[in-house]
Amino acid sequence: MRVVSGIQPTGNLHLGNYLGAIRNWVRMQDEMEDGAQCLFFLADLHAISQPHDPAELKRGTLEMAAALVACGIDPNRSILFNQAQVPAHAELQWLLAGTARMGWLNRMTQWKDKAGKNREGQSVALFTYPVLQAADVLLYQASHVPVGEDQKQHLELARDIAQKFNNDFGETFTLPEPIVPPQAARIMSLRDGSAKMSKSDASDMARINLADDADLVMQKVKKAKTDPEPLPSEVAGLADRAEALNLVTIYAALANESADAVLARFGGQGFGAFKPALGELLVETLRPISTRFTELLDDREALDAILAKGAARAREIGRPTLDAAYAALGL
Ligand code: ADP
Ligand code: NA
Repeated sequence: MRVVSGIQPTGNLHLGNYLGAIRNWVRMQDEMEDGAQCLFFLADLHAISQPHDPAELKRGTLEMAAALVACGIDPNRSILFNQAQVPAHAELQWLLAGTARMGWLNRMTQWKDKAGKNREGQSVALFTYPVLQAADVLLYQASHVPVGEDQKQHLELARDIAQKFNNDFGETFTLPEPIVPPQAARIMSLRDGSAKMSKSDASDMARINLADDADLVMQKVKKAKTDPEPLPSEVAGLADRAEALNLVTIYAALANESADAVLARFGGQGFGAFKPALGELLVETLRPISTRFTELLDDREALDAILAKGAARAREIGRPTLDAAYAALGL
């Protein structure tokens, strides 16, 4: 079993990124059987398909790498790297571009959504990046790829490309199977229960950042918007109380419990009791993460070394497949 998964190199990481994305990778790694392998990459090549700021991309890539390691991705067990350091991704993408059909890419709903009415004004990369995604997984003969609902179509495309290439030029690529990642929590803003927690929220008080220290975390929880009612004893009682539901959801996610289990303990109590308990749980969970995160960001050499080692291993694993693809095409 070989699992390959990529993540966008976003910066300004917050609790939503941790509970909604990063923690799933850590779990996947920790649940791997002996002999199975996880390759996790930062999709920096994908990032240039849309307007971007180079300095921000560089910073975001390093921040995401630091966050992944701080949150529990073990660079000795998993292979952690950024795409741009493994030229085979870009090379294989071109080799596969000869096989991918315009019609297939035209049908991609993400392309249609992102391009909207202004197709002519989009970068070529935005149109072809599902081919790069195919290269990302086919390069490593991935057996499994975790995909959310929005990525299913792109994995189908990768399989179609692999199948046509294998038919036209000889057996070269493994057809990867999708695995559905565990349902992740959706974390909302601390100031508005109808908006998701996001780095783009204007108020820093609306989110818990992975780099926040204990005092700031406690302060943010204390100031989080709530209502005057005590907590109900079942989650059904929070149907019209988005802010309260969000705080319970965060507690439940951190404690690895159901919201009902949390409410079985806190039902009947007000936020004067619940908020300090939530704050402490957050601090307890985030303290080692933010300490390690800050250390890694302050030690660029160590971080660069982790990524360089991951890239070297990725190049080694990908090499035979890239060579085989060149040879199959008569190159
Ligand atoms: P942001 O919304 O802060 O810009 P991104 O869009 O860069 O975050 O998301 C990076 C990853 O984190 C994605 O996998 C996304 O699903 C996850 N994520 C972001 N915000 C949240 C949230 N509030 N709750 C759960 N997951 C989130
Ligand atoms: Na976003």
